[in-house]
Amino acid sequence: MTARVPAAIVGAGHTRFGGLADGPRALLKSVVDRARASVDRGLSGGGIDAVFLATLGFGGWQIGNASAVLAEAAGIVGVPVTRVENACASGGYALRAAADAVGSGRSKLALVVGLEKMTDVPNARRRYWLGVSGDTEWERLSGLTFAGVYGLLAARYIADHPDAREALAEVAVKNHRHGLANPNAQFRKAITREAVLAAPKVADPLGLLDCCPVSDGAAAVVIAPSDEAHRYTDTPVHIVGTGAGSDHLAVQDRPDPTHFAATRRAADEAFRHAPFDRRSLSLIEVHDCFTIAELIALEDLGFAEPGGAVRLTLDGSTARTGRWPVNVDGGLKAKGHPIGATGVSQAYEGFVQVRAQAGERQVPGAERALLHNVGGSGASATVTLLARG
Ligand code: COA
Repeated sequence: MTARVPAAIVGAGHTRFGGLADGPRALLKSVVDRARASVDRGLSGGGIDAVFLATLGFGGWQIGNASAVLAEAAGIVGVPVTRVENACASGGYALRAAADAVGSGRSKLALVVGLEKMTDVPNARRRYWLGVSGDTEWERLSGLTFAGVYGLLAARYIADHPDAREALAEVAVKNHRHGLANPNAQFRKAITREAVLAAPKVADPLGLLDCCPVSDGAAAVVIAPSDEAHRYTDTPVHIVGTGAGSDHLAVQDRPDPTHFAATRRAADEAFRHAPFDRRSLSLIEVHDCFTIAELIALEDLGFAEPGGAVRLTLDGSTARTGRWPVNVDGGLKAKGHPIGATGVSQAYEGFVQVRAQAGERQVPGAERALLHNVGGSGASATVTLLARG
């Protein structure tokens, strides 16, 4: 199977993440309008002929046929819309499906939209909807939440690597610092390591500031064939590799819980035919739903040996000014994590960074980005590689 995809992102839109007054329809309309308006030469060069919608449908706002709601809201009734649901990795999988549709020649212009509306769901129901993507028998019905699963992984990781608690705190501090420069971020507030360590415990050893928040928001990207991208913009961002993988749903069924085989498979596939290797990446967006997830991701993606993410984090290598800037938009931790929108939001960040349009949070000279999106506690994952033309 080839990872090379002759497709390019030519436009992207993003709403603010956080507690928003708008409902799902308004968010869908707003983000599609923004994505369309962002295409430099407009969409007169071709009409959207395929749409991919990533959403869990949190709270059950439209359990079935959410695709039709998107078509109506975006004013594109008649165009085929495919809904993609792979928990928190829905966005990454939708992006890959759209890139494949364009890369295979079946679509000439595809739209990927990620959406979640989470904050208006009452607390008990919220816990239920967060839990539905975990293993039902061994995890959810036994009372284990996602924070609980990641808390167990963090405890195991800290037992193996005693400096890790400090590094987990630093992940939160760094991502909150990065979020300060992102106008779309849910939290634009600096925090300290001391505050992270002293925060109320959510799932020992993880505290409130080790967790991503509950968020509303949407993101969208427009994808064209690479050889036609110039009809839409002089600065397309090419999708030069995609990879995806799966794993056992329950953590107990995996041989090593502190490493995600799905991420490793996705990264191997994405890099197999990519025109560059890890060393030449300019920025990395990883799925930091809990601080431990960022350390695990850095190791599974091949940036460090087991335990090596602790040093990379503590020595500043993953800061915006470091060797490998990680989550320069604030990550899930500070930008927010509206489940279906997250993978598409990462593509938005890669797009604006590689086009040097990220403003205050711009990584100087950014040319190549890696996007890493995880479903649940690691049962599904995608990796996407972006590069300047
Ligand atoms: N990081 C930083 N601050 C947070 C926060 C977070 N993750 N979550 C909430 N807060 C802040 C709120 O802004 C609020 O601050 P304020 O009092 O200054 O207004 C305060 O904490 C209380 O907010 P509230 O919404 O009542 O918190 P909560 O206790 O209901 O929820 C969590 C906190 C961590 C349980 C919730 O955010 C959560 O479940 N996160 C994980 C979501 C998840 O599992 N996603 C899927 C990942 S796989």
